[in-house]
Amino acid sequence: MKLTDFSAIHLPLVEQEIHSFLNEHTSDEQLKESMIYSIDAGGKRIRPLLLLGTLSSFSVDIDVNAYQVAAALEMIHTYSLIHDDLPAMDNDDLRRGKPTNHKVYGEALAILAGDALLTGAFQLLTMTKLPNSPKLLLLQQLAVSAGTQGMVAGQAADIQGEAKQLTLAELASIHERKTGRLIRYAMLAGGILAQQPEEVLDQLQKIAAHLGLAFQIRDDLLDVVSTTEALGKTVGKDEQVEKNTYPRLLGIEKTREALKQEIRLANGIIDQLEENVYSFNGQLLRQLVKQFDEK
Ligand code: IPE
Ligand code: IPE
Ligand code: MG
Ligand code: MG
Ligand code: MG
Repeated sequence: MKLTDFSAIHLPLVEQEIHSFLNEHTSDEQLKESMIYSIDAGGKRIRPLLLLGTLSSFSVDIDVNAYQVAAALEMIHTYSLIHDDLPAMDNDDLRRGKPTNHKVYGEALAILAGDALLTGAFQLLTMTKLPNSPKLLLLQQLAVSAGTQGMVAGQAADIQGEAKQLTLAELASIHERKTGRLIRYAMLAGGILAQQPEEVLDQLQKIAAHLGLAFQIRDDLLDVVSTTEALGKTVGKDEQVEKNTYPRLLGIEKTREALKQEIRLANGIIDQLEENVYSFNGQLLRQLVKQFDEK
């Protein structure tokens, strides 16, 4: 199936799960409005696509449980963006082509909208009709990926690294956590929902680790070479605050090579999976991997 068709079929159903959750379970109107503002501002929805794409690569039908897990992941991601944009963090005015959440609703409500999307994601996961064992694993792994050793830890290291010169290994470790871990969760969750054994889950996480690093390398690169109009967020911000990025440490050309290398490695493991796992078909994931390349 073409990725555009896959997205057109499945993403509206993920978005519907987010909307019905927020509409049915939020008791404060302003809070609800501010969460829906950021969710509806758009975004590429790459994490839900990767989750559902991984699941369907094993010829498993996508059901409401999978939409809810994908919805929970996109809620966590959206919270991370709302907080990332706050004045105390990256201080950005534009996100997904619109004024950032705190520009519209004020800092206090933006912080709370982030808090509520984060907490709500876990609430939504508990509401799935999955058996207890995969549900618990999905909950636990989401906590690990988002929290003290995942995205939040990476964000903390990113902020502390500003105006300091980091090594490439230190930078890669920030990128793997602040961006990589939620992307890794997407493929892991797809594999868990497809009831895959541990060896396959490990392979999926290796693919996703390369993609996660690629994604932040690309994000760093686009901050230098793309435009505010194309990205829907203000470019050139990283340089302004002397953020450690791949282009800053390596220059543009070596950054492009590093990006290509991660993508090659991801595709290599997809090929291996296709050889070794009878039920796995890599055609959709290969299309998804292209989304991680520069253009
Ligand atoms: C932006 O993520 C923040 C990073 C982790 C690089 P995305 O590029 O996925 O943002 P949206 O969801 O499409 O807006
Ligand atoms: C953010 O990285 C990663 C997150 C966990 C949100 P950036 O700060 O580079 O993301 P953008 O460029 O603001 O989207
Ligand atoms: Mg940031
Ligand atoms: Mg930012
Ligand atoms: Mg960035």
